[in-house]
Amino acid sequence: MKFAVIGSPIEHSLSPVMHNANFKAVGDQHTYDALRIDPQHFHSIKEIIKEQGLDGFNVTIPHKESILPYLDEIDEQAETVGAVNTVLIQDDKWIGYNTDGIGYVKSLKEVYPDLENAYILILGAGGASKGITNELIKYVNPKITVANRTLSRFDHWNLDVNTASLVDVEPVLSEFDIIINTTPAGMDDNLELPIHLDYLSPQTLVSDIVYVPFKTPILAAAEQKGNPIHNGLDMFVYQGAESYKIWTQQQPNYDVMRSTVLNYL
Ligand code: ATR
Repeated sequence: MKFAVIGSPIEHSLSPVMHNANFKAVGDQHTYDALRIDPQHFHSIKEIIKEQGLDGFNVTIPHKESILPYLDEIDEQAETVGAVNTVLIQDDKWIGYNTDGIGYVKSLKEVYPDLENAYILILGAGGASKGITNELIKYVNPKITVANRTLSRFDHWNLDVNTASLVDVEPVLSEFDIIINTTPAGMDDNLELPIHLDYLSPQTLVSDIVYVPFKTPILAAAEQKGNPIHNGLDMFVYQGAESYKIWTQQQPNYDVMRSTVLNYL
């Protein structure tokens, strides 16, 4: 079978090495490539994918939403989130999934098994936040608060969570067991954090969905305070593992996928 990841830019994607390492480990003859598709060519997506003869593909920035009109079917999670990162091609039909949320929550459960009893704060209200929130709701009692810089972002949220502005949660940070950053704040040169951590309690797990850099500014600041931290590496590996299961109905070799990605970082 033939797979690929589509995006722009795509040169630095670790999906090809991760998936090809898994194929080798489990004895598959499949292939997985990186396919750069610029936004101005996205209207030809059907022809491009057909020409490549793909059986499925991953979708990354900036196409996770643009792909929606080209799908024949969409699963419930992807529809709620409004973004797709995995497409299965079956009898010429394109079926869209989103494995980011499930990937993230699996990785979080490994470092914080008692999710059911956790008070969780999610920073940011974009696509990534929505995917994670939608998946977390399945595990956690209604103790999730999503905080965003701009409150109007919540106008189209139909998920049953508490919502707040970033500044409002700063003084009550100590109430949360887990804080998950889904914003890119601090990733540019000024190293500004999405929120002040002055009221962070020492046991709170601080998590970020990013893994390049391995320690984002908020993780570095939390670690300096002595807090446990968790980055997006395992989210990335698990979302890939879930894609593989959707495409092949087989179990991947997770350890090989993870160690391959770690080797490249
Ligand atoms: P993604 O799909 O990665 O979630 P997105 O949909 O563009 O990306 O959402 C980005 C999120 O990060 C938004 O919640 C955004 O907040 P706004 O709705 O107020 O724009 C948040 N964000 C981006 N830059 C930020 C910053 N410097 N400080 C705080 N939040 C930021």
